[in-house]
Amino acid sequence: RIAYVNGRYVPHGDAAVHVEDRGYQFADGVYEVVTVVNGRLVDEDPHLDRLWRSLGELRIDVPMSRAAMKAITREVIRRNLIKTGLVYMQVTRGVARRDHPFPKPGTPPSVVMTAKHVRLPSRQKVEDGVKVISIRDIRWERCDIKTVGLLPNILGKQQAREAGATEAWQVDDDGMVTEGTSTNAWIITQEGELVTRPATNDILNGITRLRILKLAAEEGVKFVERPFSLEEALTAREAFISSATSFVTPVTQINDTVVGNGKAGSLSLKMRDWYEGFMD
Ligand code: PDD
Repeated sequence: RIAYVNGRYVPHGDAAVHVEDRGYQFADGVYEVVTVVNGRLVDEDPHLDRLWRSLGELRIDVPMSRAAMKAITREVIRRNLIKTGLVYMQVTRGVARRDHPFPKPGTPPSVVMTAKHVRLPSRQKVEDGVKVISIRDIRWERCDIKTVGLLPNILGKQQAREAGATEAWQVDDDGMVTEGTSTNAWIITQEGELVTRPATNDILNGITRLRILKLAAEEGVKFVERPFSLEEALTAREAFISSATSFVTPVTQINDTVVGNGKAGSLSLKMRDWYEGFMD
C-alpha cells in the first residue's frame, strides 16, 4: 500500500507525520472518508465542500486547491489499485512546538491521504440487519465539524462492540437521538414516514444522509427532518444507519427491543437499493 504524506507518496508502513503535529497533540485537524466504487469516488464534491467547511470553521488554512486535492486522491486510488474501497484524507493545523494557540501564520497544514480496499457485505448480511445500543451523547456543541477529535465516538463504538452491537446511538439530554458514533440515525414510523434529525450543530451532516434525502424525494418517499426520541425509535416500524462506509444498513434491534419483525424493513432495503444504484 501507498500513502500520501505532505507532498510525497510513500510505502504505507513508512508513512508518518512529525511528533509535534497538532493533529497528534491536540486533535487539531479535520478529515473525510470517501467511498470508491468501480474506481470512482462517490459524491466527491460534497465531501470536499464539507472538508473545506470544516477547515473554515476551525480557521485551518486550506492546504491546496480543490483540483490538487482531487489529483492526489486519484493518484492514491491508482497507486493502490482500488476498485472498491475507501479513501481517507486528513488535514491538520501542521507542525509546531507544542503550545495551545495557533502556530505562527504561514505554518503549512499537514495533509495525509490513504486508501484501502473494502469488500461489500452480502445481501444476506444486509437483510439480517444490525443491533445498536443507546448511550448518552457526551460530545461538544460543534458536532457539525468533522474533526479528528473522536474520543466520545470511540468510547461509544467500543461500548457497542462489547455489547455485541454494531453502533451506538447517542441520546441528548432531552431523550432525543442525535446520531451514531460514525453514522447518521434514521427511523421509519408506523405511518411509513422516513425521519432523521435536522442538520444542526448537534450532528454531522452526512453526505450519505444528504444523498438519501435526495433519493427519497425523487422516489416519492414521505420524509421529515425532525428530532426523534429513543422511545419513538423503539416502537418504529423500521430503522437504519447511514454513512460512507455503511451506505444504508438496516437496524433490527435497539438495546433489547426488536425493531419491526426483526428483519430488515422493506423501505430500508429499498433505500439501500436506490443508494447502491446511485453509486454504480
Ligand atoms: N463517519 N456522523 C458521524 C459522527 C460520522 O463520523 C459520520 C461519518 C457520519 C456519516 O457521514 P457520511 O455519510 O458523510 O459518511 C455521521 C466516517 C465514515 C468515519 O468516521 O469513518
